[in-house]
Amino acid sequence: MTRRLILPRSALNPVYIPCLDAPQRYQIYFGGASSGKSCFLATRLVLDTLSGRNTLIVRNVAKTLRTSCLNEVQKAISRLSLGGCFRISRTDMTITARNNGAQMIFCGLDDVEKIKSITPPNGPLTDVWIEEATEIAYNDFKQLDKRLRGQTRHVKRMTLSFNPVYKTHWLYREFFSGFDESKNFLLSPDLLILKTTYRDNQFLTEDDVRALESERDPYFRAVYTLGEWGATGENIFTNWRTEDLSHLQNSEKCLFGLDFGFSSDPCACVRCRYDRDQKRVYILSELYEKGLTNDALAQRLRSFAPHSYVTCDSAEPKSIADLKNHGILALPAKKGPDSLMHGIQWLRAQEIVVDIRCTHMARELTLYQWKRDRDGQSIRQPQDRDNHLIDALRYALEGEMSARYAAIQARPCW
Ligand SMILES: Nc1ncnc2c1ncn2[C@@H]1O[C@H](COP(=O)(O)OP(=O)(O)OP(=O)(O)O)[C@@H](O)[C@H]1O
Ligand SMILES: [Mg+2]
Repeated sequence: MTRRLILPRSALNPVYIPCLDAPQRYQIYFGGASSGKSCFLATRLVLDTLSGRNTLIVRNVAKTLRTSCLNEVQKAISRLSLGGCFRISRTDMTITARNNGAQMIFCGLDDVEKIKSITPPNGPLTDVWIEEATEIAYNDFKQLDKRLRGQTRHVKRMTLSFNPVYKTHWLYREFFSGFDESKNFLLSPDLLILKTTYRDNQFLTEDDVRALESERDPYFRAVYTLGEWGATGENIFTNWRTEDLSHLQNSEKCLFGLDFGFSSDPCACVRCRYDRDQKRVYILSELYEKGLTNDALAQRLRSFAPHSYVTCDSAEPKSIADLKNHGILALPAKKGPDSLMHGIQWLRAQEIVVDIRCTHMARELTLYQWKRDRDGQSIRQPQDRDNHLIDALRYALEGEMSARYAAIQARPCW
């Protein structure tokens, strides 16, 4: 059975059709929201399995796979009326082709044992599809890449799909150096990149299109409507990157900072470590939640910051007192004159490494921008938004900032 026999052209958005048999080892499908990436890749996966390919489908967290990729693939199977051709097991998270025993195996990166032991019953893995690849760490990508080994007649492929969140992401560094942003694709023997937006998806309703076109927030518009890598330019912080910091998670000398919030703003708390010699800040974990009462917050902090001092926004002495009454070692930040700019300048002089799981921090570091004057020129004042975890980070590191300040003060003048 060939593809052409079973696949009506109208089943796919035309932009993706040339990619059905693309042989490149690395294939990147990125772009705006609702551009048809997942539907296309799910459809291709169904056809690939019927032709004997074994695919591992991965997301960062197993439980999101069942509701996203597995459902997407089941929908593709029924769209193509191929229900009779597959055995679907939602318990094992596998779908097996009845004609050849080839499998789709769905697995979360948090399911370490399963990931380690994956062996399709019929031949080696030929494909890995990483859905929402911006959620995963570079090391995980490298490990998955190594999984594609063994003799098979099929070319092996790593397929990644995602929305382009920010340019400091490892995905940008790894794959986009040769990508011409005025085009929507890159083709080389080893690498295929295809950028799509909602305009490439003929299956969207008018309402879907309207919702995407009416997005006004510049960042969300760039990333989700236009499929462009998140804004840079007037960003306050460009000196940061994400990494998998699992190896540092048990560090002892952690610093904690907290910015209060309740209904419109989230309460934000950060746990970090400072390496003074390297001038490097490690952001290890974050707490970011709206609607927390001080009681509930204290409850969270008991496990987030056990037996540790937490430097809090001093503008809320009552909340600090509440936390203390609950046994949290809450301290008010000192916030000297000009502490905001001083803190920002100090942070800009460091190397900031954010654990891959701290997605809110990564988002704030991407979005935090200088204000603009009436002519649109940027001025050296930060906008008062997208700064909750960043404020918490300044409080956490306050002692380090003034330690450095004191050291400079103490240095003799020549
Ligand atoms: N081949 C198709 N057949 C039928 N419907 C489709 C097809 N491709 C896309 N759609 C419709 O378009 C919607 C959006 O497509 P899809 O979820 O694949 O976009 P996406 O690029 O993965 O979006 P996101 O970046 O938000 O994950 C789907 O929910 C589905 O309703
Ligand atoms: Mg998708």
